[in-house]
Amino acid sequence: MTITAIIVAAGKGERAGGAVPKQYATLGGKSLLAHAVTAFAAHQAIDRIIVVVGEGQADLAVAALGGLVVDHIVVGGAERQQSVAAGIAAAPDADMLLIHDAARPFIPPLVIDRLIAALADQDGAVPALRMADTLARGPAILGDVVDRTDLFRIQTPQAFRAEVIRAAHRQWSGPAATD
Ligand code: C5P
Repeated sequence: MTITAIIVAAGKGERAGGAVPKQYATLGGKSLLAHAVTAFAAHQAIDRIIVVVGEGQADLAVAALGGLVVDHIVVGGAERQQSVAAGIAAAPDADMLLIHDAARPFIPPLVIDRLIAALADQDGAVPALRMADTLARGPAILGDVVDRTDLFRIQTPQAFRAEVIRAAHRQWSGPAATD
């Protein structure tokens, strides 16, 4: 059983502003990417780590890793879906894949444990958080408060049985999927 983490870091991260894409920004002296890689590297269930970077950003990524070693660095695409596909293509021997956004630095080990455990009887599993904040549909402030009872915030890592996510990528014909 091989469990591979794919960390996608090929986005422009423009919404966050800053001189470099947000995944390369530093927090506590270490890049967000390095924090994410460290979380997987420290987890005993993870066998391989693949980092997906933007075209021409391999040097930036290596510098941001600051000496951390990963198994592969591959180039992603214009949409996150393409970047994920590039990571999957670099993991032909994986039985389980954990796909993670580089800009999320803190991954509790227990979340990784629970995702992997869920794959014992599910094809995929994602971390989902209930909405705590009040939601309002704009532009009028509090003009139209949205019922949050059934709303969840979906985070990463997102875990899949590898053959299932490979098939999903092959079969998907809709617009670029965000996750
Ligand atoms: O832009 P967004 O917040 O959706 O990006 C989520 C994650 O996907 C980020 O880690 C980003 O680097 C990655 N991404 C990517 N390739 C893209 C777009 C986003 O790897 N083309």
